[in-house]
Amino acid sequence: MNTPITARAHTNIALIKYWGKKNAELIIPTTSSLSLTLDQFYTDTTVVFDEQLTHDELSLNDTLITDNTLTKTTAFLDLVRQMAGIDTFARINSINHVPTAAGLASSASGFAALAAASSKAAGLDLDRQALSRLARRGSGSASRSIFGGFAEWVAGEDDFTSYAHPIQENVTMDIQMLTVVLDGSQKKIGSRQGMQHAIATSPFYNTWVAESAVDLVAMKQAIANNDFQTLGELAEHNALQMHSLNFTAKPAFTYFNGYTLSILNLVQDLRRQGIQAYATMDAGPNVKIISQSDATQVICAAIKNNFPNAGIEVAKPGPGISYL
Ligand code: ADP
Ligand code: DP6
Ligand code: CO
Repeated sequence: MNTPITARAHTNIALIKYWGKKNAELIIPTTSSLSLTLDQFYTDTTVVFDEQLTHDELSLNDTLITDNTLTKTTAFLDLVRQMAGIDTFARINSINHVPTAAGLASSASGFAALAAASSKAAGLDLDRQALSRLARRGSGSASRSIFGGFAEWVAGEDDFTSYAHPIQENVTMDIQMLTVVLDGSQKKIGSRQGMQHAIATSPFYNTWVAESAVDLVAMKQAIANNDFQTLGELAEHNALQMHSLNFTAKPAFTYFNGYTLSILNLVQDLRRQGIQAYATMDAGPNVKIISQSDATQVICAAIKNNFPNAGIEVAKPGPGISYL
């Protein structure tokens, strides 16, 4: 205690998406999901418990936070305090090397880094399964960011059985996510709210649950077979199914904007030209293009040609949690 601890967690992008909870308080998902942790995007979080404090203090990207993000952070730290048997408040300093709340998974790296830093700062020594369970309570996708490479979050039934585990931490496949940022602004409908609305009102929700189980089995097989094409096709299909839940919710909503559709068209055009490129989108308008090294130049050129203002980041498989 009283020693600041810094942890780094990388973001992850799901190839098989999580989109709905069967238990909102414990964040138990309706489906299992599978992701790739990325090297280019991460969060560094420092936590110190300090007897002098009268409440938790959170600074995010050098700005003092007093809104809902502080409420969520304090609720999360309450879990850590309970586990450690302490009642001391903490000072948290977090830097997102990823746009916050823009559909690029800041909640995943953010809560994974917070779980690792705060538990250690509180004197706990959690293994990675326990860290994954803890991170899950902050944001579901954070459960997967404890691990590098391909990770699966097994839905489970309760707090003890819902956690992520590595499928392949040292990725053997040549795979990258080319992130095209055309809108880095914060979303109007958070992931939490969006998935809740989809589960409550889309008539296709049960179909999604059934189909995603089928996709997951096939995705694990594609990874085991080093089969990039099948992985890409499945990931794009699964993402579009997830987004169709939002289009079919009542009232309907979407995270897509005009750019999203334009980039989806561009990806299809590239495929017609024989280039293996597949799209995945999360709760935000920015598209990630799943591709391989030898296609980087031609894909980047096509994007730059059509969208000179696009920010492009080429992310490769990244590592799991680490302490700095
Ligand atoms: P994203 O697509 O970025 O994951 P979400 O809607 O899932 O968007 O979650 C964004 C929210 O996650 C932020 O508004 C904030 O409350 C929380 N968050 C993001 N980064 C951090 C961080 N480093 N520490 C604590 N909370 C964070
Ligand atoms: C579309 O993990 O951000 O990125 O658990 O409510 O914090 P909460 O939601 P979050 O949802 C991520 C949704 C997604 C798909 C995915 O990452 O699997
Ligand atoms: Co998120």
